[in-house]
Amino acid sequence: MNEIDRREFLKFMGLTSLAAGALTLGCSTNKKTSSKLFPSTLDDLILAEGLSYHILIKAGDKINSTEFFGYNNDYTAFIPLNTNSGLLWVNHESASPLFCSGIERTKENIIKERLMVGGSIIHLVNNGKWEVKWDSPFNRRITADTPFVFSSGQVIAGSNKPIGTLANCAGGVTPWGNILTCEENYPEFVGERDFKTREIKPSDYHGWDKFFSFPPEHYGWVVEINPKTGIGKKLVGLGRFYHECATVTQAKNGLCVIYTGDDKNDEHLYKFIATNVGSLERGKLYVADLDKGKWISLDRNDHQILKDNFKTQLEIQIYARYAAKMVGATPLNRPEDVEIDPKTGNVFVTLSNNYGKGDYLGQILKIVEKDGDPLSMDFESSTFLMGGKDSGFASPDNLAYDNSGNLWMVSDMTGDLLNKEPYSSFGNNGLFKIPLSGPKAGSVIQMGSAPNEAEFTGPSFSPDFKTLFLSVQHPGEKSKSLKELNSHWPDGGDAIPSPAVVAIDLGAAN
Ligand code: FEO
Ligand code: CA
Ligand code: CA
Repeated sequence: MNEIDRREFLKFMGLTSLAAGALTLGCSTNKKTSSKLFPSTLDDLILAEGLSYHILIKAGDKINSTEFFGYNNDYTAFIPLNTNSGLLWVNHESASPLFCSGIERTKENIIKERLMVGGSIIHLVNNGKWEVKWDSPFNRRITADTPFVFSSGQVIAGSNKPIGTLANCAGGVTPWGNILTCEENYPEFVGERDFKTREIKPSDYHGWDKFFSFPPEHYGWVVEINPKTGIGKKLVGLGRFYHECATVTQAKNGLCVIYTGDDKNDEHLYKFIATNVGSLERGKLYVADLDKGKWISLDRNDHQILKDNFKTQLEIQIYARYAAKMVGATPLNRPEDVEIDPKTGNVFVTLSNNYGKGDYLGQILKIVEKDGDPLSMDFESSTFLMGGKDSGFASPDNLAYDNSGNLWMVSDMTGDLLNKEPYSSFGNNGLFKIPLSGPKAGSVIQMGSAPNEAEFTGPSFSPDFKTLFLSVQHPGEKSKSLKELNSHWPDGGDAIPSPAVVAIDLGAAN
């Protein structure tokens, strides 16, 4: 970033002179391998022996003449264009008022934050290592101001044209190369309509609803976006809740099956089966009953209790978690990411924690569909790995498979409790590799440690599996002010912390 761009960005961000002096933008640092033992409490990105990384892009980096890379990068997915280039989709889950705008809830500050959430599409090229092609016409932002439509022409809260996407956590990729980006904690931004009274409860965190009155029913969806055009639609058929992820597989007949978790205490795991090949416009939504090992339909025609409580199928989709409880769905401890073992078809689901039930450490749940068929209505479930001192991880979140039979996982211990009980033995949040076969099958090997108060999110691989793209989200998120910073990653010294996406060279580790 040149000096003019840098000043423009700082003006845009409204940063203080203190922060401006400390902030370094657009740099691409190379960090060498560290041999420090895990767990680590260092304010740095520490990697296992043999791995190295460089920063691809940081919050606020200019990606074209008018747009900046957003804040709190999360899910990543690489869509190849040709051998040495591709588009990296990156979710932006939230925008820190302290670091992006200002903690006062003014319209001016919120307008800035609206431009720092959603997603980014950045063009990567590999000339020896993956780097951003800064002048690419593919580089594009999707924000809280981007116009969308609802799938199948559905009209919700009076409109088919929802404005913007926000709280974008994890996601998925369709077989035709579109991105699925998941709207998770939307009430923090826009409030929520109460299921029983239908009154709107205001946002208790970001407070955007003080100045922008978009209907809460327009958020909490899975959004399908073409990464080459940026055009997207919100997929009504997958239901509305705190979507963590939308993990896609294809049945033998070509139909897409999507697994998606509702990341809230005692909420559920869902499965969507598309009606038509090559489309997610229509389909049927199911929810998991782990006690019976059954996927239960959420079709209004299949249950009298749904007919009694919902006037339309659309109403069921809007209030899916309430319908799920009526038909006997199993409450789960914050279902987060879902990944499907490419070799066995087994479905792995992270259950992060449930403080209300005394579960701080979480587990990875394994679901085996009957006959390995994702269209099946029957499955068996078991605990694959428990969080704890023996396994060396707590509060598992995102998952990704490599091509060597390893499941990669990142942890999300909450910033308030990091390095305190019951998490004190785990250090900072980590990156882990779990071999699924061979002599180390089922062991958990820590491969990385995050800077202070950061979580790793959105692990994804380059097509040759030599590079792991990884988001470093919210370093120093609990900092009280710009003068009392809890992290200075990645620039060190007195710098204010910044989320960034890194490219990890896996070397011989893979
Ligand atoms: Fe955004 Fe459930 O993590
Ligand atoms: Ca997550
Ligand atoms: Ca999480």
